[in-house]
Amino acid sequence: MTARHRSPGTAGTGRPGRPGQELARDGAATIAPARRLRGEVRLPGDKSISHRALLLAALADGTSRIEGAGDGADVRTTAGIVARLGAQVERLGGDGRTVDYLVVSPGAEGLVEPDGVLDCANSGTSLRLTAGLVAGLPMYAVLDGDDSLRRRPVARIIEPLRLMGAALSARRNDSLPPLTVVGRLPLRAVDVATPVPSAQVKSAILLAGLRAEGWTTVRESVATRDHTERMLRARGVPVRRAIDRSSDRSDGVAWSVEGGVPVQAIDERVPGDVSAAAFWLVAAAVHPDAELTMPNVGVNPTRRAVIDILRRMGARIEERIGRPDDGVGEPVAELVVRSSRLEAVELGPLDVAAAIDEIPVLCLAASQAHGTTIIRGASELRHKESDRIAGIAAGLAALGAHVEVTGDDLRISGPSPLRGAVTESHDDHRLAMTFAVAGLIARGETIVRRPDCASISYPGFFAQLEGVRG
Ligand code: S3P
Repeated sequence: MTARHRSPGTAGTGRPGRPGQELARDGAATIAPARRLRGEVRLPGDKSISHRALLLAALADGTSRIEGAGDGADVRTTAGIVARLGAQVERLGGDGRTVDYLVVSPGAEGLVEPDGVLDCANSGTSLRLTAGLVAGLPMYAVLDGDDSLRRRPVARIIEPLRLMGAALSARRNDSLPPLTVVGRLPLRAVDVATPVPSAQVKSAILLAGLRAEGWTTVRESVATRDHTERMLRARGVPVRRAIDRSSDRSDGVAWSVEGGVPVQAIDERVPGDVSAAAFWLVAAAVHPDAELTMPNVGVNPTRRAVIDILRRMGARIEERIGRPDDGVGEPVAELVVRSSRLEAVELGPLDVAAAIDEIPVLCLAASQAHGTTIIRGASELRHKESDRIAGIAAGLAALGAHVEVTGDDLRISGPSPLRGAVTESHDDHRLAMTFAVAGLIARGETIVRRPDCASISYPGFFAQLEGVRG
């Protein structure tokens, strides 16, 4: 009962290999069912927080130490961009999943114009947040990436950043990367609403707002992850939060940041990634003989929806508070999850926004839940590293689940016994890991094609999948 992860350099060993090898984008992983799941799983550092810690370190004059950053390919991409902008970025060693960085920056005023294209590879967060940062610097930058990134929408950041006075343009009538940004200083402070619930768009505007005169306000109809806001406060920048009465939704939020205040260099410890924890939460909940423990999981209220949705479904998840929430730092907890009887649940656009990265693995949980789970308003899933609605529906159907897609809604009836099948990752890390988890409970062998993309967010995932077989 083993997972064989075949790719150049890691053939048949089940070892994680070096991150570069995991990204070989070839081969297939073969996952056998697991009799039991047991153990402690150490997570990569939170990807969203790691990106922001690096970019804010670039804006801060002085030395920033980032402990426990995620060491997936996306965060490495941002580290590379920060170095191209003229900060010194030193890796201080890590454990394969996390890494410590020391960033020494001349501060916003000392950053330099990159002498070529900034390669954002597969990382939408790198592209959108860097665009916001560069918009307020007197420089010309071209942001590009891989085939997947070139299919991801950028009009959503072009419009607000143009309003602020930066000049931006992109391929296909300003809709797709490559994206060109000509920054300007100072920018105009604006009061804008995000066109879609997106923390990337909100963060791009707030980062540009740091370089504007006065207060910049971003309104969102649905609260998305608030890491940027917390991290700015922690670095001495005034940030305000208000309930947004102009929103047609009662949970609308308006965030404001004061421009012209220098970002301070600080040391920060990054918590474990709750989006990575989601795979183990679902694995243990749907497996008949499982108990997994995850120390040091970030449980920020704007990120923890996957925990609460699984609990609504009946998952037995215990949470031991490690660091409570003070509104500035990131709350952390140890999670213990055990085999559970799951019930179907109805999820709407608010849940989708709150669990945007965890919906694929929640679909797997739904396939094992009693009743029909309905997920409404998931259109944003079509604009991720792949079209995740199409990819998850095809993969779960191949495994024997009952999935119906109508427009941007999903209906999943369960519980369905899964049988091993060939699944396609579409080079999307979250799909690769979801199908690998499915393989732990499917009868027979499950093949995940092109699994190496898992290391975009989770280097060493397949080795840990081996390690938890009890
Ligand atoms: C992220 C925000 C989300 C999420 C992505 C990371 C971030 O994207 O899907 O993985 O770090 O801000 P959107 O905010 O565009 O939905």
